[in-house]
Amino acid sequence: MPRKNSDSLGQGTREPSASSGITRRSFLKGTGIGAASLAAVRLQLPAVVAEVQEPPVPAVGPDPVPVTLQVNGQTYTVRVEPRITLADALREHLDLTGTKVICDRGMCGGCTVLLDGEPVLACMLLAIAAQGKAIRTVEGLAQSDTQLDPLQDAFITYDALQCGYCTPGMLMSCRALLDRNPKPSLADIKAAVSGNICRCGTYPHVFAAVLAASGQDPRLAQQG
Ligand code: FES
Ligand code: FES
Repeated sequence: MPRKNSDSLGQGTREPSASSGITRRSFLKGTGIGAASLAAVRLQLPAVVAEVQEPPVPAVGPDPVPVTLQVNGQTYTVRVEPRITLADALREHLDLTGTKVICDRGMCGGCTVLLDGEPVLACMLLAIAAQGKAIRTVEGLAQSDTQLDPLQDAFITYDALQCGYCTPGMLMSCRALLDRNPKPSLADIKAAVSGNICRCGTYPHVFAAVLAASGQDPRLAQQG
């Protein structure tokens, strides 16, 4: 009885045959060579990658280094250790103590300042990383020695502070909100200060102040 090819049963794989010019021996040999070549290419890869790597960034510190900061439109150069946070650089080296450090671990929002208009936690950012950015602190809100920012006026009018310790951070978060959205909804305001913890619980007053500063009815703050 003639032997059936496994393919005719729809099972298995046709064996390489001598008639196709490929024998089992030559097939396995060729595959082995291919794998060996691939392995060789793989082995060479790290060397190729190493050639295109950027030169290492020179380390700075731990001794003080010059750091230049643009704060409220003024340029300051100070010598600080590279480990110093922006919050400490502002408070301890530039005497800008309006920015408060409460938790010092990114949890309360008390140290919020604006970096190129975006609120950031100054206790979580190294001063050297803030170089080249426009930094705005609470001291930079007032329009002059005799004229506060309308938002500051509204905080006073609507009694939006008690102990006042969270207030600079709260003001900066709200200022950033109004700069990008001049007519925020109550939900927008709540979202903007969601990272600012006020242990005195002045939130409804903060909401009313921001609504008033944006020309809206402060009574909307009582709706949520
Ligand atoms: S002091 Fe920076 S988040 Fe609390
Ligand atoms: S006013 Fe006291 S923590 Fe906010």
